Amino acid sequence: MDVAVVGAGRIGGNVARLLVAAGHRVTVSGRDPERLRRRAEEVGALAATPAVAVGRAEVVVVAVPWDALPDAIAGMGSLDGRIVVDTTNQFGSGPKPAAGETAAAFNAARMPGARYTKCFNTMTSAFQEITAHRDPPVVQWICGDDAGAVEVVAGLVRDAGYAPVVLGGTADCAAMEAPRRDGAVYGEEYRPADAEAVVAAVRAGRPIPATPAYG
Ligand SMILES: NC(=O)c1ccc[n+]([C@@H]2O[C@H](COP(=O)([O-])OP(=O)(O)OC[C@H]3O[C@@H](n4cnc5c(N)ncnc54)[C@H](OP(=O)(O)O)[C@@H]3O)[C@@H](O)[C@H]2O)c1
Repeated sequence: MDVAVVGAGRIGGNVARLLVAAGHRVTVSGRDPERLRRRAEEVGALAATPAVAVGRAEVVVVAVPWDALPDAIAGMGSLDGRIVVDTTNQFGSGPKPAAGETAAAFNAARMPGARYTKCFNTMTSAFQEITAHRDPPVVQWICGDDAGAVEVVAGLVRDAGYAPVVLGGTADCAAMEAPRRDGAVYGEEYRPADAEAVVAAVRAGRPIPATPAYG
């Protein structure tokens, strides 16, 4: 697929590298042309401005700091019909979700026309880097309201070397959002069997099972 990675730092760089290795055509983008050129070379991707990268992409991975989102969204141009994978967490300054609103729902509303999903946000970049293609696979949680978009992102997650697990829609995904806390999957490692028990609990409105510990 044609994938744009807007913000090819720690998280975006890792996703770009893994998707290039899986045979996707990846274009990385950011603000600093020299840094971008080096990063593109490192991961084997193309480099372009956000507007050009997004213009030719089917899927757009957004991996900028939270406070850069307004600027990055403006720089990407129209997201109409594009599948977006939001990797951001609501740390730092910038507009924030209202009380009780998920960051996913808040960001989806800031990206009109996008087929919004959220993924690759629950584990540190270092952990994601060392656990790609591990056996048994590490779970990458996904949420989104567009079933077709979620399915495509699940395929990319598999290609990147993780196990996709869909937690729910953008309104039901608080458990995969910061901060790390009891009753949430954010910040924790999950394997598929334990993740399914979490999904069942979230769908039933029950507290999720205790965080698994892996040896
Ligand atoms: N690091 C983690 O462990 C981790 C884990 C889970 C989720 N996340 C989330 O993932 C997101 C990215 O984090 P990160 O740690 O990967 O950040 P990072 O290493 O600082 O990379 C951010 C990238 O965004 C680019 N950027 C900044 N402003 C931009 C703009 N306006 N338009 C386009 N590109 C822009 C930067 O490049 P230029 O400066 O050249 O533009 C840089 O390559 C954050 O929202 C974070 O909360 C991070």
